[in-house]
Amino acid sequence: MAPERSTGNRIGAEDIRRRKGGVPIVCLTAYTYPIARMLDPHVDLLLVGDSVAMVLHGHATTLGASLEMMIAHGQAVMRGSAKACVVVDMPAGSYEDSVAQAVASARLIIGETGCQAVKLEGGVDMAAQIAAIVAEGIPVMGHIGLQPQSVDKEGGYKIKGRSRENVAALFRDAEAVEKAGAFSVVIEGTVEAVASDLTRHIAIPTIGIGASGDCDGQILVVDDMIGMTVNRVPKFVKEYAKLRDTIADAAARYADEVRSRAFPGPDHVFSAASGKDQA
Ligand code: KIV
Repeated sequence: MAPERSTGNRIGAEDIRRRKGGVPIVCLTAYTYPIARMLDPHVDLLLVGDSVAMVLHGHATTLGASLEMMIAHGQAVMRGSAKACVVVDMPAGSYEDSVAQAVASARLIIGETGCQAVKLEGGVDMAAQIAAIVAEGIPVMGHIGLQPQSVDKEGGYKIKGRSRENVAALFRDAEAVEKAGAFSVVIEGTVEAVASDLTRHIAIPTIGIGASGDCDGQILVVDDMIGMTVNRVPKFVKEYAKLRDTIADAAARYADEVRSRAFPGPDHVFSAASGKDQA
């Protein structure tokens, strides 16, 4: 069942589509209620990315994401946001086998979360799935270039657009995703000039990550952007805060105060005289 806090005033997929060539579209991933509340006033789009499997659940790759996981985090982000267009990633294994599987999974995600759209990875190879989901009235965001769900098949996170053949394949993918009816497309880990050319070539907004400043919008994984990432930080990430240091410092000071009995102090305990029942 869709969460109760979804409102009718959200930015929709069609609003995003109309932003082609305009003011850059601001996107971030979000996985939890408090982060969604903090980001919602500042962004146009929140992606409940399957990166949640790595960022919050400690899996080695996004292949650790499941439909159940995406739905639970999608519901939390919908509860925590009121304005942003919320897009939920379709996890690996939920759409590639057949058009029927893709439609059933997309329907489940939309039905259980009330989100505005789903995202799936793939170009020419997934065009039939995109078209079938769109035909159900469910907006789809595409994802081409570096596709993290293919990391095992590809033998790592390989930058795209370095060879003439690959550039041609990227153009075929972008055209296929657009023709299938996607309202926008993420371009990840792709040579800057190629991402710029792709942006000029198609009529739907491109959302770049490790791509180009010429894309119609940008997205980052929120934990990377706020400096919470504990593993390697990719080159394309800019850390706008260093929360890992803030958290480590807070934990160290708390530990010191508990060990020295400085915490809890008089402000953090209840006296019989205070008379208040509320914690
Ligand atoms: O899962 C994710 O976070 C993504 C973004 C990196 C675009 O797909």
